[in-house]
Amino acid sequence: MQSIAVPLKTNAHKIVIGHNILAQLGAKLKTLKIGKDAIIITNPAINKYHGKALIAGLKRSGFSVKVCEVPPGERSKSAKRAFRLIEEIACYDCLKEVFIIAFGGGVVGDLAGYVAAVYKRGIPYVQVPTTLLAQVDSAIGGKVGIDLAVGKNLAGAFYQPKIIWSDVSVLSTLPKRQIRNGLAEIVKYGIIADQKFFKYVEQNYQKLLKCDLKVLTYVVSRSSRIKKDVVVSDEKDTKGIRAILNFGHTIGHAIEAAGKYNQYHHGESIALGMRVAADISRQKKLCKAGDVAAVNDLLANIGLPERIQKIKTSAIFSHMKHDKKFLSGKNRFVLMQKIGKVKVLEGIQPAVIKKAIRSCR
Ligand SMILES: NC(=O)c1ccc[n+]([C@@H]2O[C@H](COP(=O)([O-])OP(=O)(O)OC[C@H]3O[C@@H](n4cnc5c(N)ncnc54)[C@H](O)[C@@H]3O)[C@@H](O)[C@H]2O)c1
Ligand SMILES: [Zn+2]
Repeated sequence: MQSIAVPLKTNAHKIVIGHNILAQLGAKLKTLKIGKDAIIITNPAINKYHGKALIAGLKRSGFSVKVCEVPPGERSKSAKRAFRLIEEIACYDCLKEVFIIAFGGGVVGDLAGYVAAVYKRGIPYVQVPTTLLAQVDSAIGGKVGIDLAVGKNLAGAFYQPKIIWSDVSVLSTLPKRQIRNGLAEIVKYGIIADQKFFKYVEQNYQKLLKCDLKVLTYVVSRSSRIKKDVVVSDEKDTKGIRAILNFGHTIGHAIEAAGKYNQYHHGESIALGMRVAADISRQKKLCKAGDVAAVNDLLANIGLPERIQKIKTSAIFSHMKHDKKFLSGKNRFVLMQKIGKVKVLEGIQPAVIKKAIRSCR
């Protein structure tokens, strides 16, 4: 088991990474003194596969346990679902000391974190991420939220968990498409911060696709450290440092939205967005063509999509303009200087963006 400190001024906590550690969370939570009554927010599949170990460990440590299941899929990140949960918790919460355990992927993590942030103006919560994407990305950083009809993640908060408990063993039941999805963000970490890590992923992607526990543990821990470092230096996303986590996301989010959130998963859209961002970087002469080729090859080897299909360039542009990261009407791209180093550039000419999108057709 390894423990990574997230030394935030007022919300310091730890990320714990290991295998077969679900049953040990109860004992750890006892020492954190965050309440006596655990409310696990999860979905039926995750609960069926992995709920037993988690719940048994909690009960053994003296916690009462209530499980709230939500249906799988992005649609659960809605105001309707969030407030249904809040009502349910409010009815249950009588003479209790409740706290929430977000037990699932990014959907459950964002939703449960939002519920924890809003109910009684905030109760303690814990992240137990069960997808690769959630372990390396969404569970870390305290961004919680739900989607509105006009856009994703538009209602939310910065609300840090008391601990992040990443058990890589649970990834063995994850469909391969979801593993690839998480790998997209892992490739991103290599590009934005660590060339050596990028090379490690190049050499080990096959083992990762086979869920090799040793390799998975290393990439989850390296990725967690990279994200943690960025979050610690810019917790509320106000200094422009946290923006580098958005490499591939300006176009990626637009592709995800233009595909109505069902054509491509998040990591898949981001893989396409990273290809476009790399091509823009090359056109702007920020990086070498060889670096662009290395990014494209690794994404292709992992089995992430290589071509933007059935989505018009005009649709990508229109969704890009709705991105909340657009600064006073100017587009903003994180671009690659080399593998391991990026910079933010504003006001990229539409012709350059269009040409980069064409390179992924
Ligand atoms: N808060 C943030 O900083 C942040 C960052 C990135 C993404 N996100 C959000 O994360 C969400 C996507 O998260 P995701 O990719 O984890 O998808 P997800 O939560 O929808 O999970 C994907 C699927 O995997 C299943 N699943 C989860 N764990 C499993 C397991 N161990 N075994 C078998 N099946 C399992 C789920 O039931 C679901 O069907 C999006 O809503 C996105 O906006 C948030
Ligand atoms: Zn992402």
